[in-house]
This record gives sequence, structure tokens and C-alpha cells, in this order.
Amino acid sequence: MVQALLITLMSVIPQPTEIKVSNEQFQFPRKAVPVVVSSPMLVETASYLAETLKADYELKTVVHSGGDLAVKGAFIELSLNKTLTDLGDEGYRLCINKNSIEIEAPKPAGVFYGIQTLRQMIQQKGGQWIVPGGQITDKPRFPWRGMHQDVSRHFFTVQELKDFIDALALYKFNIFHLHLTDDQGWRLEIKAYPLLTEKGAWRTENDHDRGCKENAKTDPTFIIPEKHYRTVDGQRVYGGFYTQEQMKDIIDYAAARHITVIPEIDVPGHFKAAIDQYPYLSCRGKGGWGSVFSDPLCPGNEKVFEFVDTIIGEVADLFPAGYIHLGGDEVEKGQWKKCPKCQTRIKDEGLKDEFELQSYFIKRVEKMINARGKKMIGWDEIHEGGLSHSATVMLWRSWEYRVAVEAAKEGNDVIMCPTSHCYFDYSYEGTHTKHVYGFEPVPEALNAEQAKRILGTQANLWSEWIPSPERRDYMAMPRMLALAEVAWSPKELRNWDSFSKRLEKQYPRLDKMGVHYRVPNLTGLVKGNVFLDTVNVAIE
Ligand code: ACM
Ligand code: ZN
Repeated sequence: MVQALLITLMSVIPQPTEIKVSNEQFQFPRKAVPVVVSSPMLVETASYLAETLKADYELKTVVHSGGDLAVKGAFIELSLNKTLTDLGDEGYRLCINKNSIEIEAPKPAGVFYGIQTLRQMIQQKGGQWIVPGGQITDKPRFPWRGMHQDVSRHFFTVQELKDFIDALALYKFNIFHLHLTDDQGWRLEIKAYPLLTEKGAWRTENDHDRGCKENAKTDPTFIIPEKHYRTVDGQRVYGGFYTQEQMKDIIDYAAARHITVIPEIDVPGHFKAAIDQYPYLSCRGKGGWGSVFSDPLCPGNEKVFEFVDTIIGEVADLFPAGYIHLGGDEVEKGQWKKCPKCQTRIKDEGLKDEFELQSYFIKRVEKMINARGKKMIGWDEIHEGGLSHSATVMLWRSWEYRVAVEAAKEGNDVIMCPTSHCYFDYSYEGTHTKHVYGFEPVPEALNAEQAKRILGTQANLWSEWIPSPERRDYMAMPRMLALAEVAWSPKELRNWDSFSKRLEKQYPRLDKMGVHYRVPNLTGLVKGNVFLDTVNVAIE
């Protein structure tokens, strides 16, 4: 009975932990609604609420930040309540009565998430904006609820990243992982090495660009925006980068939405955009390709460690996040086998092989990150050849799923983004929204204590085939909303039927935000339909 009521009343994603409904309802006054802020720490949050209510529903607000002002009639109150310790750093309590909406939480992040819930509960009834009455007590299942975006393979403007951050905030994501460097383009200004962006941010068109252009003939989301091209020495090149100033703007915008931007500088592989500008960094003094991946940095060369250390220094100063992601994936070891400097390093350090050389490299970079007071994250290959216990492993290779189990058992923190469920650059056919909804981030092989090592989950958006924000939105949504519920809601409350009903209510909101989400599949049809006679097909 209560469950049925919930479904009709609630349109909230992710599903809150606990809901008690009442018969009352809050009605927004025709004039501005007062927003009472009981702590100076919540003034920014109150401004955010005011902006959002205006953008979503054209509702007016007056913020009273002077403490307990006497307000007449209906009001909204935001407050910090240190006694609600059960709610942790991100939980909140939202009480909706006839006359008031109160959001309280131990920390500002909780109040912010209460606002996201409230936004999704407002509905129109008899020409009025109302919120159904009740009390919601809510907190996240996992502390790491992330989305990743690759801005190297294709580039996105500051505004395009901010638009995505707005969608993340709405669904209570708290991590935005930016893959800033790769073979196809270096995207972050590094003051010590200006060529990284002066030249390394620009490239001639590659096979993926040509593929996108081919697809664009039938699907405009594959059009590569003209604004990312320029002509250098008579040659048309594609690219772009963020100055440190622009990146700070993105970081601040995300922080105001309780989202941490995690920078990824991918080493020792995926580094060709930099090696092409600073060729002494590779084993053979020039950039090139191995059998599958690009030639990596040379761990036999001390100058390589100086170079990486300088970059880590600038990145650590710029990004307030407690983590730096150093990549570590897909390292082609062929050059290391042939390189005298690498072989000397293996001998001098008593290493067994090139896998241990990779581990040696990662451990040295981890020390650089730790020296700046930060922790290191790497793709799961960092587990090869041995790993320090302080490193956090990002599990991506579903075929090496055991690494998540081993690393967690060994005491390493783990973030789950396996290709099986979390690669949102993969087509919807295999990784459809219901499939994502069924993802369980905690491996069965872990006991309760070991399971605490699983920090949470994120989805990855590699951009070889994502040249525009429209394509990105299409690949991310709506399955990102399914992952939001996996990451936030209690496992026992996950219910596909309930989710899919609530999901339908999100589409008008996403339309209003200008999000180019994927229109859901028609039911009643299968992949191949052959009609030899007259049939009736019921399409919902
Ligand atoms: C990855 O997909 N190479 C982490
Ligand atoms: Zn070498």
C-alpha cells in the first residue's frame, strides 16, 4: 500500500532511503517564497536553491540569511544539525508540511542533496506548484558516485562541461573524473611545458574523426563542431585545451555543486601527445606505436621522472581533490624490452621483468603524489607487478575482475567501473539501461569487512566516438540515472519497475535542461520485425 503510494507520489531518482508520506501538501505561494538560512555556511546553497527553483519552475524566492527571521506564511528552511550524526557527510532530512519545507543535515553537502530531492518532487496541481507532504530521511550507499569524461579524443568547452556537471548534481553524483591527456591530445595547460598545449593539443584528423563524419551523414550528433578546428601553417587541425584559469572555473563550478573534479594524467602509456613535443621522454627518442598502444615513457631515464614530477606539482596545486589519477593502463612494453636504459633499471633495482618495471614506475609516481598530500588512483593495471597499500584501484577490465577482489582483500581501496556495466561509450544494445540498473558494485567474494574497500562506482565516457555534447548526453542518459541509483540507494530498495516509472518523469526535466538524452526503446517490438500479414503491435 505504502509502496504503491510512493510510486504515484514520488518521481525522485535516486530512490531515497526512507520515505514517510502524509496527507498534507505544501503549496508554493504566488509571491516569492522565503528561504530561511540558519547557518552562514548555507548561504551559497540557498542561492543555488533560488536559482534552481527559478530555472525549473519560474518560482521566486527571497533568501533570509540573517538567522531566525519571523516569516509569515509558507517558507523553506535550510539548516545544519550536528546531532543528525547517523546521516554522515552527505545525508539529509527533508520534512514537508502544509506551511514549511525544512531541509536539515549535519553538513552542507546533505542540504544540497535534500534540494535535489525537493526539485524532483515539485509538481503542478490545479495551476499551483505543490510538494506532497511527508518526511524523507536519506543518505548514500557509497561515498564514490562518479562520472568520467574523456576530453582528449574529442574536446569539450568549459560551458559544455558545466552543463554536464549540472546533470550530475541533479542525480547526486559527487565525482567528475576528467581524462585530460592521451595520445590524441593534451588538454591542460602546464606552465613549465608550454608545448604540451601549444602543439600537443592540436592534431590532424584521425580515423575516429573520419568515422564520426561518416556517421554524421545519418546522425547529426556525430557532427564534429567546427569551433574545434583551426589552421596552423596551412594545415587544418582539431583540438583545444583548458588554461589553468579555465580549469579553476570548472573546479569551482563543480565544488559549488558538491562535486570533486578528479584530474587524470595518464602515464606511462597513452602519452604520445606529450612525447611528440618532448621526444627525449621515450626509449628511442621519438614517439611511435607498438603493436596496439603507443610507445610509453622510458622508466630508465631520470629526466622522465623530473618531467612527471613537475606536472604532478602543477596539477596538485590546481586541483583541490584529495586524489590524482595517474592512469597506468594499456602500457605497451615492447620498447622497454629493447631499451638499454630500461634494462639497466631492471637490473639495478633487482626487478624481475617489465611488469615489475611498470610497478616501479607507478610506485615512484605515487610518492610524488603523496608528497603533495594526495592519494593516487590508477586503472587496474597498476596492480600488475605489485602495488602499495595506499593506492586506489579503478577496476575497468571485466575480464580481470579478480583484480578488484584481490586488491580489496589486500587492503587497497577499489572503485568499480567494469566494462560489463559502466562503459557508457559502448552501445545501448549490450549496456542498456536495465542492464546498468542491475549492476552490483560489491564483488560477492568479499566479506563485509573487505567490502568496505569498495568506495563506489562510476561510469566512463571515452570520446573516440563522442565528438559533441549531444552525443555525450545521448550516451550518458538515461543510463547514468540508473547508475545514480546503484550508487546512492540501498541495495534492497532497488526495483526496476519503480525506477522505470520514475524515469519517465525525468524526461520533461531533462528536456528543459537542454539535455539530448536517448529516447527509450519502444516496447512491443524486437530487434528484427518481419510482418507477413496484418498484426497489431502494442507499443507503450
Ligand atoms: C581504459 O579503458 N583503458 C581504462
Ligand atoms: Zn627505456
